[in-house]
Amino acid sequence: MKERLLQLKQEILDNLGKAKDLSVLRNLETKYLGRKGELTKILRGISSMAGEEKKNIGKLANEIKTELRNKFEQVERSLSGSADKAGFLDVTLPGKKIKQGHLHPITIIQNELEDLFTSMGFMVLDGPELESDYYNFEALNIPGNHPARDMQDTFYVAPGPSPAGAGEWRSDMVMRTHTSPVQIRAMRKYGAPLRCVVPGRVFRCEATDACHDTTFDQLEGFMIDKNISISNLISVLKEMLSGIFKQEVKIRVRPGYFPFVEPGLEVDVNCTICDGKGCPSCKHSGWLEMIGAGMIHPNVLKYGGIDSKEYSGFAFGLGLTRLAMMKYGIDDIRLFNSGDLKFLEQF
Ligand code: PHE
Repeated sequence: MKERLLQLKQEILDNLGKAKDLSVLRNLETKYLGRKGELTKILRGISSMAGEEKKNIGKLANEIKTELRNKFEQVERSLSGSADKAGFLDVTLPGKKIKQGHLHPITIIQNELEDLFTSMGFMVLDGPELESDYYNFEALNIPGNHPARDMQDTFYVAPGPSPAGAGEWRSDMVMRTHTSPVQIRAMRKYGAPLRCVVPGRVFRCEATDACHDTTFDQLEGFMIDKNISISNLISVLKEMLSGIFKQEVKIRVRPGYFPFVEPGLEVDVNCTICDGKGCPSCKHSGWLEMIGAGMIHPNVLKYGGIDSKEYSGFAFGLGLTRLAMMKYGIDDIRLFNSGDLKFLEQF
């Protein structure tokens, strides 16, 4: 009898372990502990036993019954607990936060610049990143055999016929090396007077390091009208820089050479990180080269279909990436296109 009891207990425990839901549990309860259940029957049989056996078996049977009752309750609690979780919605809990994207640091600064320039009456234009050799160089007063081509390491794209007289193989499509080709596109499309800015990506076949990358951003700006002079250029640049840095920024103007402007200028910006005292970001000079500029060359106006006797204009090319580095104190240009979330999530 004792063996039969222990066997039954084990059978019940095994079945309990397999019970997956409450209805299975109820069936087991009826089958074993119910009025006509198997264990109940055994317990009833004990009353007809005699002496020592009755005592021993009765004790064991009661212990088993209590243990199984507890076990049934425990399984019932855990099964109804998980059912609760699945079926109950606590509307007072705070919602799950949806992970939001955010703007890239270059986009943030580009948006600020666009706002600044539109407030000064400039329109914002776009141009193709895959550009013809003609717009990128030729129409900007840089002919095929001109040494100024070497100023910009160029990605030539599809192989094409060598232009007559070029002297070497050259494709006629390039990844634009600067945003200046949009000057010609805009002049041809809109004519003079004209005020535009062109933010966008440019490409150079560079060996990369902390200051150089093959892909970076520029902002081209140009204004063509009657009697435009360098003073207009300087005042627009100052307006732009104080708008971005929210403080008066000192600039330094040096002569510079770009074939599409005459005279050409390099505009350096006083380092806002060290206030011009000299720090690693400005290579201890106190100044950062950031803008190429000048008065638009008459040949370029001619390529754009504008009469250089009637109109003059200034143009500048701003290193947008460099400006972002300076504004946010970023010391490695390669971070911008790295896709590194540890970097990007700081903005
Ligand atoms: N396009 C020049 C560059 O990328 C910058 C520039 C633009 C210079 C306009 C003068 C005028 O280096």
